Amino acid sequence: MHDIHRPTKTDALSLLNAANLPTSDLTEAHMDYFWAVKEQQEIIAVIGLEPFSPYGLLRSLVVRPNKRNQNIGTRLVRHVENMARQMDIRELYLFTSTAQEFFEKFDYNTVLRHTAPDAIRQTTEFALLRPNNAVLMKKDLR
Ligand SMILES: CC(C)(COP(=O)(O)OP(=O)(O)OC[C@H]1O[C@@H](n2cnc3c(N)ncnc32)[C@H](O)[C@@H]1OP(=O)(O)O)[C@@H](O)C(=O)NCCC(=O)NCCS
Repeated sequence: MHDIHRPTKTDALSLLNAANLPTSDLTEAHMDYFWAVKEQQEIIAVIGLEPFSPYGLLRSLVVRPNKRNQNIGTRLVRHVENMARQMDIRELYLFTSTAQEFFEKFDYNTVLRHTAPDAIRQTTEFALLRPNNAVLMKKDLR
């Protein structure tokens, strides 16, 4: 099993750009709450959390195409959820246009955008992702 590391911003951007996920707002500070999986020194998966306790935004999940369906995405989602719990985050939100069914398996439910708390509404992802191409999903952490 691969270890989970803190990525460099360059490594994170390389995967996110290849998957067309938003990166324009990412700073070095975001990397404090980003995690990655490497194989032979090469990044193969990444995930991020923006914490606004008691709320959090799960973002930037991507697994390199030739490494998919090996449970790596699942491990990273579980990892972020555990980190969020440790930070007293009670509600985890995410936007997705491509992986709604993937997240439904982890008990994330689609919610209306206007129900999101201010902390989530003020994120760049909220502004970037338009209602006609992305859904907002939420999970209550326990
Ligand atoms: C979504 C993603 C992270 C899943 O990573 P992964 O490592 O392949 O996932 P896992 O191996 O842990 O889980 C695989 C399971 O999820 C399902 N799955 C994978 N991608 C899916 C998707 N986009 N939609 C629905 N189900 C998906 C697989 O069919 C498989 O199901 P099974 O266990 O019932 O066979 C990966 O497909 C990816 O990087 N996609 C492109 C980027 C993306 O959409 N990111 C989410 C943006 S928020």
